[in-house]
Amino acid sequence: MSNAEKFIIHAERILTPTFEPPVRGLDMKRVEEYLDKDIVIEDGKIKDIRPHKSADIKARLVTPGLFDAHTHIPFVGSRAKEFYMRARGKTYLEILQAGGGIHYTSTLVKQTSEDELYNVSARYIKEFTKHGVVGIECKSGYGLDKENEMKQLRVIRRLRDTLPNKIIATFLGLHARPKDKSVADYIAEMKELLKNISKNNLADFVDAFCDKGAYLPEELEEFFNFAKSLGFKVRLHADEIENVGAAKFGARLNAVSVDHVLKVAKEDIQEIAKSQTIVTLIPNTSFYLGEPFAPARELIDAGIPVALGSDFNPGSSPIFMPSFVMHLAIRFLKMEPEEILTAYTVNSAYLLGFTSGIVRPGYPADLVLWKTSEFLDIPYMWQENFVEHVFIDGRKVI
Ligand code: NIG
Ligand code: FE
Repeated sequence: MSNAEKFIIHAERILTPTFEPPVRGLDMKRVEEYLDKDIVIEDGKIKDIRPHKSADIKARLVTPGLFDAHTHIPFVGSRAKEFYMRARGKTYLEILQAGGGIHYTSTLVKQTSEDELYNVSARYIKEFTKHGVVGIECKSGYGLDKENEMKQLRVIRRLRDTLPNKIIATFLGLHARPKDKSVADYIAEMKELLKNISKNNLADFVDAFCDKGAYLPEELEEFFNFAKSLGFKVRLHADEIENVGAAKFGARLNAVSVDHVLKVAKEDIQEIAKSQTIVTLIPNTSFYLGEPFAPARELIDAGIPVALGSDFNPGSSPIFMPSFVMHLAIRFLKMEPEEILTAYTVNSAYLLGFTSGIVRPGYPADLVLWKTSEFLDIPYMWQENFVEHVFIDGRKVI
């Protein structure tokens, strides 16, 4: 089907956020329901939503397509041994500081050709798509030197050019402390690289792992001011392992998003609430590392818009299924189903810079057609893939 063709979906039920993003507070729960409608798609956009007459296809439930606000694609390899070590008592940080963790994956990525890195990553993104993900963030951070960070960013560019998904690139050169040089030298090198990335338009965001065992806020300030001066948007891995004031620092930097925040201090939540910064919640990481879950209720109730992501990576979250992220969000983040839908669609899309995530005339036809009419079935029976079809810009990709 080409974009210009007209296509009509008969939806028994539509569930969609309606507020302009970033959606916050009680508005996150205010999801609209429409029954027995035809969604008319034309030129890649939703043209009309009207009472059912005739259609090309029928769906039990239609929602906006999902946007995964945080992944670590591209990567290769397995860290199953570390999973086992953690289950026997070693911590994420102990493994990282012993040269494993991110360093281990980095060694594999350095040895992998650009084509192979692309092939593995494209296969992963196709899996995401089968589970309803239309848009996704990808990042570097396993290169950890100029050449290999660039290799990862070129792979992301190629993924964006060849896959139907809406893909955003983030540069995460400051993902681990350097093993063979000083932090000052490494940061200077990554600053040099930023100019090149900017010139070649290879990233939209700049990120850093701001945490114990990684980089502290005071080490990052100048680097991020430089990134901002080049026009990059900023986001942070913040307070995932320990509270180092990273989330608060991110809010002060005007970061688009601070992510994880498992250990954010109660008093810092108010600081974030005063800023424009979104919090990306990733319950997978808590589950996988055996760490506490982020104080999602406090964050949402403080009026902070939240997004959701899988953090798909070989260490702290080898989980890509949105249904499982939703399962954890219901159980451990105590989020309401409507809040989850809002976070995973309109808020995540907005964070990544896309206008999408609302089923409304004029919006891009980024839609998921589900085999169940009950949204709650998705997190409940998370192993079942309830996705029947996926549309991106009006094209049926699944
Ligand atoms: O988001 N915390 C830093 N980065 C990833 C983990 C990456 C890895 O362990 O390979 C995260 O949890
Ligand atoms: Fe991450």
